[in-house]
Amino acid sequence: MKPDDFDLFATLVKQRSGLVLTGDQSYLLESRLLPVTRTYNLKSLEDMAQAVRSTRDEKLMHDITEAMTIHDSYFLRDLKPFRYFQSTLLPQLLVKREAKKHLRIWSAACSSGQEAYSLAMICAGESDKLQGWKVDIIGTDLSREIIARAKSGIFTPFEVQRGLPVGMLIKYFEQSGDKWQIKDEIRQRVQFSEGNLLHDFGPIGVFDVVFCRNVLHCFDPLTKTKVLESISHVMLPDGMLFLSLGETTTGLPDHFKSIHAPCSVFGLESAAKAQ
Ligand SMILES: C[S@@+](CC[C@H](N)C(=O)[O-])C[C@H]1O[C@@H](n2cnc3c(N)ncnc32)[C@H](O)[C@@H]1O
Repeated sequence: MKPDDFDLFATLVKQRSGLVLTGDQSYLLESRLLPVTRTYNLKSLEDMAQAVRSTRDEKLMHDITEAMTIHDSYFLRDLKPFRYFQSTLLPQLLVKREAKKHLRIWSAACSSGQEAYSLAMICAGESDKLQGWKVDIIGTDLSREIIARAKSGIFTPFEVQRGLPVGMLIKYFEQSGDKWQIKDEIRQRVQFSEGNLLHDFGPIGVFDVVFCRNVLHCFDPLTKTKVLESISHVMLPDGMLFLSLGETTTGLPDHFKSIHAPCSVFGLESAAKAQ
C-alpha cells in the first residue's frame, strides 16, 4: 500500500475510533479493508483511498473504521472481575442503594454482548436479593454490525464454550439450529445501542458500575485519558470502573484511585477514601 494511502486510512480510523495503527500494521489494514473494497465495487485500496479523498462518503468512512475494530470477547472474561462484582460490589450496592432500589451498569465497548450478558446472568442468579429492584444494564459499541449481533443474543458453539460454565449455558440459553440463543429473560435485561467513546455520551445517564475493558489499550495515552475523563462524568460519586486486567493507573485522570488492584477496579477519589 502506498504510504499516503496508509496514512489516510490510519488517520481516518484514529479520528473515528481512537484505534492507533502503526506502519508495521499495513498488512493488517490491507487484509481488513480488501473486503470493503469489494462491497463498494472498487478495484483496489488505492481506488478506495481516492474515493475517500474525493467523496468523504460517510458510510464508506464508517465501514472502513468498523472493519478495523477488533471484536474479540467472551463470557465472564477473566472471571475474577465478575466474581468480585458478584461477591463484593453487588452486596455493597444492595446496602448503599437500598432506598432507591435501582442500579445502572454500563458495558462500554461491549462488542457482541458477552460482557453485558454475563452481568445480566449474574444478576439473574441473585434475583432473590434483587427482588423489587430495577437493574439497567446498558451495552454500547462503536460498531453497528456488532450491536446488531449483541441484540440478537445468538452465539456460536465456539462462543458459548469460551468462559461460560455449562450450568449457565443450560440455564440461560436454548439451542437454535447450530447456534445458541440467550433466553429472553436475560436478553430483556440488557439494552444495546451504538455509542462511540470518543463522542459526547448524550443522554446515557449516570452509572453505579462501568465496565470498559479491552479497548483503551488501542488508544494513544491522550485519547485514553480523555475517554476516562468523560467516563468519570457519568459515574456516580461512589461508582466503580472495571478496566482490563493488568491495566494500571497510567493515563488515568488523577481523580481515579485504585479500589481493588487484582481486578483493576477503580473508583473516584471520594469513593476510594470511603473504602
Ligand atoms: C476487544 S472488544 C472488547 C469487548 C469487551 N469489552 C470485552 O472486554 O470482552 C473491543 C470493542 O471496542 C469497540 N470499540 C473500539 N473503539 C471504540 C470506540 N471509540 N467507541 C466505542 N467502542 C469502540 C470495538 O468495536 C470492539 O467491539
